[in-house]
Amino acid sequence: MEGPGRALILGIETSCDETAAALVTDEGEIRSSVVSSQAELHARYGGVVPEVASRRHLELVTPVIREALAEADATLEDVDRVAVTRGPGLIGALLVGLAAAKALAWSRRLPLVPVDHLDGHVASLYLQPEPLEPPFLCLLASGGHTMLLDVRSHTEQQLLGSTLDDAAGEAFDKGARLLGLGYPGGREIDVLAREGDPSAYDFPVARVPGLDFSFSGLKTALLYKVRELDAAELERRRADLAASYQRAIVTALVERSEAAAEQVGADRIAVVGGVAANSELRAALRGAALAPLELCTDNAAMIASAARYVEAIPFARYLGLDAYASTAA
Ligand code: KG4
Ligand code: ZN
Repeated sequence: MEGPGRALILGIETSCDETAAALVTDEGEIRSSVVSSQAELHARYGGVVPEVASRRHLELVTPVIREALAEADATLEDVDRVAVTRGPGLIGALLVGLAAAKALAWSRRLPLVPVDHLDGHVASLYLQPEPLEPPFLCLLASGGHTMLLDVRSHTEQQLLGSTLDDAAGEAFDKGARLLGLGYPGGREIDVLAREGDPSAYDFPVARVPGLDFSFSGLKTALLYKVRELDAAELERRRADLAASYQRAIVTALVERSEAAAEQVGADRIAVVGGVAANSELRAALRGAALAPLELCTDNAAMIASAARYVEAIPFARYLGLDAYASTAA
């Protein structure tokens, strides 16, 4: 047996525009979590440019891992497995993290644990100091996904509904762009909406059958409203538009989460993913389990957390492992 302090999981996450590394114990205690956001780099393009993201990950991945080790007061000697996001995400970005993880694991003859990014978001709830135990109904709302999951155990979950078009975070980002706000747009809308009247505009809340979501009609409705206004009026009404638009997204998310919880008889709702950072959503779902803000948006602590429930691939058998851009349907 190895001595105390050794069994640390090194998590690495590079699926989109955050380069992240973290050290987590088997009990789910976060020893360090470093996130280097590339948001500013992509802001001038109004969204993530995949090739730019990959190159930046390449520059950042080693310093970010070093910083995570330093913050945890650990060395690679203390790491007993390496966990890495294998997908879904931007393929070039994922490959940078995967190659770094393989190289580190291989050089120390360690096992490697491939983690699905979405399982990572759910596993953000299993971290200390207040881990949530399944079963619960989970709303996963990020820039790339909007899903309702019936989480039965750490390893079993059923998809109850998802978006038919844009993800909730994408709706925030596209809306922010139409309103002339910065990227990423979710936080910008969140902040501006506090100064606006959410009932100023009556934006449509799509009620597609079942437990699915649709946000594309809402985005179009905002586009038409913005087109109707001249520059001065848009300036004057921007906060009202942001507040009304946010209200429509939040209403859809809350309604469907509550309906899903009722359908499966879940008495607890949990919300994860970048959109879970939204203050109106957090207030609307007051009884819900909400991951701490820093664990809502992409990070590597959640990847290391998820790795605790995934079988590790023994030394050297992972060298041929590939990343995947999207989850197979
Ligand atoms: O989970 P995440 O960091 O990355 C993905 O896996 O996609 O989520 C990023 C998304 C972006 O669309 C961003 O605009 C949104 O989360 N977001 C928010 C807030 N903070 C981040 N959306 C609404 N309100 C926020 N405060
Ligand atoms: Zn994410």
